[in-house]
Amino acid sequence: MLDLPHIRSTLSEHYDLAPSPELAAEMQSVYERMDRVVTPPDWVMYAPYVRAINALKKERNAVILGHNYMTPEIYHGVADFVGDSLQLAMKAAEVEADVIVQAGVHFMAETSKILSPEKTVLMPDMEAGCSLAESITAEGIEEMRAKYPGAPVVSYVNTTAEVKAASDICCTSSNALAIVNAMESDTVIMTPDQYLAQNVANESHKNIVYWPGSCIVHEQYTAQDLRDFREWNPGTRLIAHPECPPDVVAEADFSGSTSGILKYVTEEKPEKAMLITECSMASNIADELPEVEFIGPCNMCPYMKKITLEKILWSLHTMEGQVEVDPAVAEKARHAVQAMIDLSRKLGI
Ligand code: 13P
Ligand code: SF4
Repeated sequence: MLDLPHIRSTLSEHYDLAPSPELAAEMQSVYERMDRVVTPPDWVMYAPYVRAINALKKERNAVILGHNYMTPEIYHGVADFVGDSLQLAMKAAEVEADVIVQAGVHFMAETSKILSPEKTVLMPDMEAGCSLAESITAEGIEEMRAKYPGAPVVSYVNTTAEVKAASDICCTSSNALAIVNAMESDTVIMTPDQYLAQNVANESHKNIVYWPGSCIVHEQYTAQDLRDFREWNPGTRLIAHPECPPDVVAEADFSGSTSGILKYVTEEKPEKAMLITECSMASNIADELPEVEFIGPCNMCPYMKKITLEKILWSLHTMEGQVEVDPAVAEKARHAVQAMIDLSRKLGI
């Protein structure tokens, strides 16, 4: 557990982090990317951290990879690249830098380390986990293989390196259907997200068997919620992530990964939209899409929200929180992740 009072006092000895209206005004062009969702008093507090992190990034030759579920001050203020799990994995493999700071959750940092073993990968809070990654171990994969001999294992990237190493290929919510359809076998094992698997099964001709894991953010939505939202907010476009249960996806107007959601809203520009996913998704795209009114409610991921500006600055300052993956495990896991990236590129995803 990080000692926040110690972190706060140590950082303030090295950086000027006092709230500053002058600095906030100087950094107005950065603030404009998020001024629909971040209040001016909050920006006065964030601006010194954004300045310090961006300066330190240059010194360390570091890049920050930010997932779409990061808060807006991280997403717009300090991230060099933002995107969904597939886009961040691809970026980790090709980015030129000595250090990657993963503004996301632990499995994403492991994926970056697997793809870029020569780089230092920093996780600002090691406790930023994921209910899906925690739901299965490599033994679970072996159990599934024993139950369905010969069936290939397609594991979501939301898994540990050990689970990836025990799998044949990975997938993300952007490419899951295409990856499953590309398998030669009629039966395909999908782990660990039961809902992503069921949603893929509804669109695929394959016989999909799956592990019973779920995302604590998306499993909370119900089909009745969506029917109620629609009744209370007529004319609102309901857009659901495929980690939601299938009856929720069936009630939605569109379902896609976080980048799929961004693409859909950008192209369609509905007057009113409700994103059936993590809260920061709508906040991060609100300023780019002023014509769209984003309507709540949403669910927060407690793991994603462990990442803060303060912890990012601390990790870059101390270079603590380095993610390591056993080289033998990493090599096998790389095979599964790289197979996904290669197939996605081939299929134009
Ligand atoms: P994508 O960004 O790949 O859609 O994944 C969502 C998610 O839950 C990541 O933890
Ligand atoms: Fe895991 Fe769900 Fe949080 Fe993504 S949103 S990190 S899948 S718990």
